[in-house]
Formats: sequence, C-alpha cells, structure tokens
Amino acid sequence: MENKTSYKEALNNKIFSITSQAAKELNVKSYVIGGFVRDLLLKRDFKKDIDIVAVGSGIDLAEKVSSLLPKKPKVQVFKTYGTAMLRFEEIDIEFVGARKESYTENSRNPQVETGTLEDDQNRRDFTINALALSLDEKDFGALVDPFNGVEDLRNKIIRTPLDPDITYSDDPLRMMRAIRFATQLGFTIEEDSLTAIERNKERIKIISGERIVDELNKILSAAVPSVGFKLLHQTGLLHIILPELTALQGVEEVEGQTHKDNFYHTLEVVDNIAPNTEDVWLRWAALLHDIGKAPTKKFSKKVGWTFHGHEFVGGKMVKKLFERLHMPLNQKMKFVSKMVMLSSRPIVLSQDIVTDSAVRRLVFDAGEDIESLMTLCEADITTKNPNKFKKYHNNFKIVRQKIVEVEERDHVRNFQPPITGEEIMETFGLTPGREIGILKEAIKEAILEGEIHNDYESAHAFMMAKAENMGLKIQNN
Ligand code: CTP
Repeated sequence: MENKTSYKEALNNKIFSITSQAAKELNVKSYVIGGFVRDLLLKRDFKKDIDIVAVGSGIDLAEKVSSLLPKKPKVQVFKTYGTAMLRFEEIDIEFVGARKESYTENSRNPQVETGTLEDDQNRRDFTINALALSLDEKDFGALVDPFNGVEDLRNKIIRTPLDPDITYSDDPLRMMRAIRFATQLGFTIEEDSLTAIERNKERIKIISGERIVDELNKILSAAVPSVGFKLLHQTGLLHIILPELTALQGVEEVEGQTHKDNFYHTLEVVDNIAPNTEDVWLRWAALLHDIGKAPTKKFSKKVGWTFHGHEFVGGKMVKKLFERLHMPLNQKMKFVSKMVMLSSRPIVLSQDIVTDSAVRRLVFDAGEDIESLMTLCEADITTKNPNKFKKYHNNFKIVRQKIVEVEERDHVRNFQPPITGEEIMETFGLTPGREIGILKEAIKEAILEGEIHNDYESAHAFMMAKAENMGLKIQNN
C-alpha cells in the first residue's frame, strides 16, 4: 500500500483542488470517500464516479464548486437525500453532507441528521468503502481510516464498520454488495459479516428487483462468477432471489442410477463462458440454460433419469423470472429465452455425424445468434472424461466449419422466402388460403433439407413441380 504523500499526488484531477478551494470559501471540511479511494489504493481502473462528503451542506458545496469551474456545469439537486451531482470532464461527482442516520423500527426511510465525518463513515457499508482522503488545504490527501480499511484491503477482507446486523439491516442490499465485492475483487467476507448475511437473508425481500439485478449483473460480469453464486447459495440468499437455480442442486439416486448435480454444472458453465464473452445476457443464458431440468426431471426403469423438453420449459421460465425480478422484457429477455430453448441443439448435433441439413436447420433457427449459441454450447461441455471432452470440442469445430460453408452457399441465417405469397397467388390465381402456406413451407423445407438451392430460380422450378402435384393450374392473363 502507498504512503500518505502519494495520495496527495494521486488527487491530481482539477476537481479536487477546486473542491478544496470551494470548501475553504464555505468554511467546511470536505473529503473524497468510498469507491474512488478504494480503487485508487487497489490500483484498480478508475470508474468515472467520485463521491465527496462535506461536513456541512453537500448541496452548497456542489453549487460553489460549479461556480468555480470554467464551464459552470449544471448541478442536479436531490433535496430529499441532501445530495447534489455535477459532471466534470465525463466524471460524475456526487456531493453529500456528512450524515448520522437513525432508522426507526417501522420505517425504512432513514431520518437524516447532520453528522461528523466519523458518523458518516460509520454508516457506510464496508471498511474498505469508508476510507476518506482529506481535501482540506492543510492536510490535502491525508487518509482518514478509523476502521483499518487499509489493512482489510491488504488482507483482502470485506468487513462492516459496525455490527454487521446493523449495517445489513440498515440497507439489506449490502448483503449482496458484500458478495459482489468478494467476487469482483477476489476478497473474503469476514466470518461475522458472512454469518450475519445468513441471519438477515429474509430482509432482502424488501429490496427492489432492479437493485438486486444490478448486483447480479456485476457478479455475472466478474472473471469467475461462480464465486458469487456459491456465496449467495451458502448464505441462503440465492434460494430467495433465484429459487429456479437452487432447485437444480442435488444428486438423486434411484436403483443405483444417478444424474449430475445441475446446479454445480451450471456454475461451471457460467465460469467457462466468462472468458469468451463480455455480453452479460449471454452469461445470463448460461446461468439459466438448465432451469427447466428441475420441473421436467423423471426416472424411468428403462432409460434412467430424463429431462424431456427441459429446454422449452426453461425458455418459458426465463420470461417469468425476468418479470419477477423487474428485468427488461425486451429483446434481451427474448435472446436469453431463445438461447435456453436452443441450448441442446448443437450438442445433439455434435454427438452424431454432422450433416449439412442439420447445420442448415440450426442456422435457420438461431439466425443472427448462432455465434452466441455456439459459445454457450462449448461452455456447456463440462465432462471430466478427457476423451469425451476432446471429442465434443472437435465436433464443435466441425459444426463451426460447416456453419461457414453452409452459410456461404445457402444464406439461411436471415432467411427470407425466395418466393412471396403474393407471387404464389398471382401465378396460380389463388385467393389467400392454405395452399399458399403449404407451398411456402414446402419451398423452405426443400431449402433446409438441401434439395434445392436458396435462390429464386431453384425455388421457382420447385414450386411449379409441387403445384402441379397439388393440382394447381397456372393462371394465364
Ligand atoms: N454505500 C453504502 N451502502 C450502499 C451503497 C453505497 O454504504 N448500499 C457507500 C459506500 O461507501 C460506497 C459509496 O457509498 O463506497 C458509493 O457507492 P457506489 O457508487 O454504489 O459503490 P462504489 O463503492 O463506488 O463501487 P461500485 O461503483 O463498484 O458499485
């Protein structure tokens, strides 16, 4: 960890000297606090977000800072919270007055009282997030660390400044934040803080889906997401927020036959996909790809354990899950649901001889998302048998190669019927009716089966032959 003098040098952004000057003019003390200081000491990438605390009015300090800045940026004031925000050189700077909060038993709304810096540090979530650097000209850059946050940073420990029951009860989202920071930073949650999460887990129910999903997205975006999901599971939070996942846990045995533990398999898949995609929605697809297995699980004497139709059931469950957690119900949800529904297709394909028509159908169904689907399916290979592992990966290579070949030849990725319904009606003098659908479907099938090429000439010739079979006559006009 660095020594005090270097923190002064690290505060080289103009915003800090201006805040220092503004605070001096208002005769208040000010500090930079929270994530900026934590990440500075960890030498982590700066995330364009700075929190400044004033021992006095945060709103007044923000106004003063703005008046001293060259372009006098607009100050956004949130009166109810006593905070204000302005943007400077693409950075969001949030000003808040030091607070001492007391929570009444029956209300979640904190009664905010003005407090000292130490009061403010006390009410923060973790010791590593309570570190403050003075912006006072007398000791500019000096570290204020009443809870040994620097030591916790060094030892990679997540610990609450107060009794964890109080800290989590004040804002239950902090239970998820603890797990999220542990996952992002590779830290350990200190024993008392961890057992307090277990004790307070039910309180997560008062937190909105949006805030929970924000944390889940951050856990999923980490390098090894399973770290977070194991902690969520261990503390009992996962069972409350994503019961579809915990339902996958366990290995059942009937007549000596077992199935794999689909919960731990899922976590392996999520870890496998992480290095191969930054797309958090594809990571969601990995997380949810097997959720249909719990409701479809059956044992039969003949074939053992089966999960028939779990992809379809799982795809439907995605929508319900997104609704429950107030997640967007737009294209992203449709994408995740589609990935889940198609998640077994390439695997089935790769275990067999890879035929052109099977690949064509896969590309037709996956469309633009074929690459994502292949990435998901490769991550899904978690077999511990090295021969099988190699075989499946090799077969996927063949599938990928065939996708390229089939695409070059047949262009089915964005399939548009080469002959329109209108042309069919005109050619045979038909009014809208089932014949048109039959002909269009037959043309599509012939293309996907590889009987004809995906072009107008071939489709037209095929249509004429098929129509003749159906007894349709060409309309002469
Ligand atoms: N904080 C808190 N309790 C919360 C949320 C935030 O005590 N539930 C405090 C912490 O001191 C935190 C600061 O507010 O450092 C800023 O919060 P936020 O911007 O949400 O998090 P960061 O710590 O900055 O980290 P990240 O941006 O990675 O979330």
